[in-house]
Amino acid sequence: DVIDAGGQVLLPGFVDLHTHLREPGREDTETIDSGSAAAALGGYTAVFAMANTDPVADNAVIVEHVWRRGQEAGLVDVHPVGAVTVGLKGEKLAELGTMANSQARVKVFSDDGLCVADPLLMRRALEYSTALDVVIAQHAEEPRLTVGAQAHEGERAARLGYTGWPAAAEESIVARDCLLALHANARLHVCHVSTSGTADVLAWAKDRGTKVSAEVTPHHLLLTDERLATYDPVNKVNPPLRTESDAAKLRNALAEGVIDCVATDHAPHAVQDKDTEWTAARPGMLGLQTALSIVTETMVRTGLLDWRGVARVMSERPAEIGNLADHGRPIEVGEPANLALVDPDAEWTVRGAELASIAANTPYEGMRLPGVVTATLLRGRITARDGKIC
Ligand code: NCD
Ligand code: ZN
Ligand code: ZN
Ligand code: ZN
Repeated sequence: DVIDAGGQVLLPGFVDLHTHLREPGREDTETIDSGSAAAALGGYTAVFAMANTDPVADNAVIVEHVWRRGQEAGLVDVHPVGAVTVGLKGEKLAELGTMANSQARVKVFSDDGLCVADPLLMRRALEYSTALDVVIAQHAEEPRLTVGAQAHEGERAARLGYTGWPAAAEESIVARDCLLALHANARLHVCHVSTSGTADVLAWAKDRGTKVSAEVTPHHLLLTDERLATYDPVNKVNPPLRTESDAAKLRNALAEGVIDCVATDHAPHAVQDKDTEWTAARPGMLGLQTALSIVTETMVRTGLLDWRGVARVMSERPAEIGNLADHGRPIEVGEPANLALVDPDAEWTVRGAELASIAANTPYEGMRLPGVVTATLLRGRITARDGKIC
């Protein structure tokens, strides 16, 4: 089987630290099979499956189940993320050690949107994580500042009648957790950074020697609160789309390494949960099959990153943060490789109904985007080629 790679870019297979696969619990929106297909088509060879499933992935039985289903799907390595707390309620620490030592070998634990609001609980989680050599991924949404919030708090939201979600809700908790991580000498990973101020906090914390890493989503690099004018809930997401100056700052922070990597926060939702009024709609958007194109558009075409840099933010850094030894590396002779082949000049038109996910909630519907993943290889085996699963 010969692949003609003329004019294309060969990259290490992408690693997504933040994917919602919805199984178990919401198989009407995504399954480990359908999500794995979307990942392979998007150039991914490993994804971290978020813990906010139903039941929540807060014990060894669930994380082993998710891990095994990923193996059965066989298209991408599915690494389950464990919940930091029992039931995501944020009151009691889950048995992180049991999950870390299970067959699933959980390496990342997350509060998944509900936030470890209690500073003592966060301190204990960070101390525990150091002993286990795992990382805590903080969603950085201070719940006491985000009650009823639906949109970036600012001039636009006020004018259009949305309840505001201030930048300080994110920045204050990231600052707190950076200080706690430094105090506990623990690693901290910050999920979906969305504000310019958070980039400043990260730069400051890294400068002081904090072991903190951070991710930004493709949608926060490209989209802004300009989208609020449509009142279309496809644009509703946690954290909210911010201003153009926030997005510009995030692009620069990613180029400079203040933000380490891109993560999709791929969040499938059913039609009835999105095609409703804004306040009732669920937050989140699809991301696995469009990530490379949005990075091409916002980072490569703007000259902020070359393809070496894309390999760093899409593959190498996320593999390091998630502790995956077999991903995010250049090919070694004789080793079955994890690879993504990309045509940088080709373009495609996004159609939600044609994406491999069961859900179709893409904010890029009808958009023409640059950068096409033409082949993905998992340990030397072709998993996707020319837009089809192999
Ligand atoms: C996520 C989801 O739908 O599970 N939604 C979102 O808007 N990002 C949860 C999350 O990551 O906060
Ligand atoms: Zn792997
Ligand atoms: Zn979140
Ligand atoms: Zn998420």
